[in-house]
This record gives sequence, C-alpha cells and structure tokens, in this order.
Amino acid sequence: MSDNFKDTYHIKDTSKLASPSLLVYPDMVKSNLEKIKKQIDLNQFRPHIKTVKSIELIQMQLNAGIRKFKCATLKESSLLLELGVKDILIAYPLIAYQMEQFLDMVKQNPGIKLQCVVDSISAAQSMDQFAKELEIMVPIYIDVNLGMGRTGVIIQNLEDFYDELLNLDNLDIKGFHGYDGHIRVIDLADRIKVVESYFQEFLKVLKIVEEKANEKLICVFGGSNTFPIYMTYPFVECSPGTFMLWDWGYHENLPEQSFDFAAILFTRIISKPTINHICLDLGYKSVASENPIEQRFHFPEHSNWIPKFQSEEHLVLEIPASEWEGIQVGQELYGIPYHVCPTVAWYPFYQVVEHQEVNNTWAIAGRY
Ligand SMILES: Cc1ncc(COP(=O)(O)O)c(C=O)c1O
Repeated sequence: MSDNFKDTYHIKDTSKLASPSLLVYPDMVKSNLEKIKKQIDLNQFRPHIKTVKSIELIQMQLNAGIRKFKCATLKESSLLLELGVKDILIAYPLIAYQMEQFLDMVKQNPGIKLQCVVDSISAAQSMDQFAKELEIMVPIYIDVNLGMGRTGVIIQNLEDFYDELLNLDNLDIKGFHGYDGHIRVIDLADRIKVVESYFQEFLKVLKIVEEKANEKLICVFGGSNTFPIYMTYPFVECSPGTFMLWDWGYHENLPEQSFDFAAILFTRIISKPTINHICLDLGYKSVASENPIEQRFHFPEHSNWIPKFQSEEHLVLEIPASEWEGIQVGQELYGIPYHVCPTVAWYPFYQVVEHQEVNNTWAIAGRY
C-alpha cells in the first residue's frame, strides 16, 4: 500500500500547511459516489450528512443525483435547506428548544419535506400541541430500537406506539426509522443472519401497521454496516454516511466494501523525547479517541510504529531503534482516521487536495 499511498496522498509543497490538518481529496469522494451509484438505485438512498458536514461535499452528492438526505442536527438541516434540498429527515429526537426551532423551520419552509423522528409519547404530544398553535402538519417517522439501545421504540411496543400517535392530529406518520450501528459482525453472511433475526420481527409489525394505515409506509434503515443488507429490500431507504470519506475502522470491519479513503490526517513530528520515541502533533483534540489507542489512526507507511499515549495536543509513538536515529523533528506523516465522523467534527475546515496541491479550504459548516 505504501508506494501507492504516497503517490495518491502526499502533497508536493507543504511549506504553508499547518499541522495537524484534515485533508480532503475530492477525486476520492467522486469515486466513492460512483461506487455507491453502481450499487443502489438513488430512489432508495438517503445518505446521512453527519460525517461530511460541509456544503461542498453535500453539493457533490447533489451533483451525483442524490435528492433525499438524513441529518442529526438543526444546523445540518439548515445546510441542506440552504442547498435547496427538498426532502430532509432529522434522525434525532427533538426536545425542548430544538423542537420549537424545528417547528419554526417547518412553518417557514412550506413545500419542503422537513421531517423528524419520534420515540416518546410525551415529546410527540408537545410537538402536536406546538404544531396546532402554528397551524402546521408535521411529518414524522417512528424511531425503532433495533437492539442498539440508544433511542427508539422496541419492536414489541411499536404497534401500541403507532396507535397512540394516531390520536395526535397534527403529526403525520410517514414511516419508520432504524439504526443498528451496534452490529459489528465482520463476515457479511453472518452479519446478514444477525440483522435478519430482528428485521423479520419488524416486518411483521410493519405489515400490521400498514394494514391499519391502509397505505405503504417509508422505512429508513441502517448505516454503512447494514446498508448491503437493507438495500436488498426495495422499499427500504438506506442511510449510510461514512461511505463518502471512509475510514480505517470500516476498512477493517466491513471487508466487503471498498470505498476510497478521502479524508486524511496531516501531522508532523514535533519532538524526539526519549530514545526510540517520537511525539507528533496529533493529540486527542485532533482525532476521534473514543476507542483504545490502537484504534484511533493508522499510518500506512509506518504500520510497525506503536502508539503509546496521547494527550490533548500530543501523540507519543515508539518506533524501531534503526529508524529513530534518522528521524528528524518536522518530518511529516499522513494518517487515516480510524473513525472519521467524530474526527471531522474536531476541525473548522478541510484542506482540499487536488493534483497533490492544497489551494482551497472547505468549512466544516455543520459542526457545533
Ligand atoms: C442514525 C444514524 N444513521 C446513519 C448513520 C450513518 O452510518 P455510518 O456512519 O455507518 O455510515 C449514523 C452514524 O452514526 C447514525 O447515527
């Protein structure tokens, strides 16, 4: 990988590039969009923009023909509105002030499908009340807990939950939303078995609810890990987000997928503190660090270097004695984030790399 990696990712002139920086490679993003288009009908596709968080990268998705989007925050939904997107699902429970702001957005954007998920009757009642006052109908999706245990109604309670929502006149139930990011089975055949075990249970409830509703409901399900499974059900809209940038974690854990790494960390050696140790400017303020230290970044050109510890702005690595002598402070390194989504959220902007040069920055405008 090393030579190929160098030719693909190294920048010719780094003299005006601060480190750490987050680099984005539009050619790689384009290639990822082409790959996704070969796999799935875009009518069945609703990517999550929480990973990219940038006007320019969403615009690339629009240019590729994607029309429906999912997001996690009001800020992200406002980027989508700004770009003229007409079908937006905020896949995050909205409560308190965010709920009010969301309803104002719905009111101010008639004709736009501005939708949210609901998993609590009390929140749904408040939303219905506000919606009545504003004289609007709010399109909602019932959030399903597919076993992740983060948000959502468990499958056994879904029918009752649906029945209760029917009493709320200003909420318009469009369908169901489910995310199963907890499924970490590497082998696709085994992953399919695990997902089918609960998805078939969900489908039984869907059938009952659709009979009651006397219409087909929309299902928005999954992330990158389960997208190859849900896309075999034509009525399911798939919502991966990481495919745009890809990362080392998914490279290791989703071997059936072959997206290109489009976001790279640029870092420098800032010190050689003790024998066989180096320190880089890649602390845990510059790369997602929710995982153990072995699972935060990957340096393809130095995969034998051992990460020892990080502090806020520092990363210490142990390296072979034979290499340590020749290492210079100031030397540059290019790393692949292990978990790109929260890594992006650390940076105010991407440095845009085209033809091995950085001539532009793109704001990570959806971040706050
Ligand atoms: C609700 C929801 N949907 C979709 C996604 C996208 O999944 P992935 O990052 O696996 O592509 C996420 C990611 O965290 C998510 O939280």
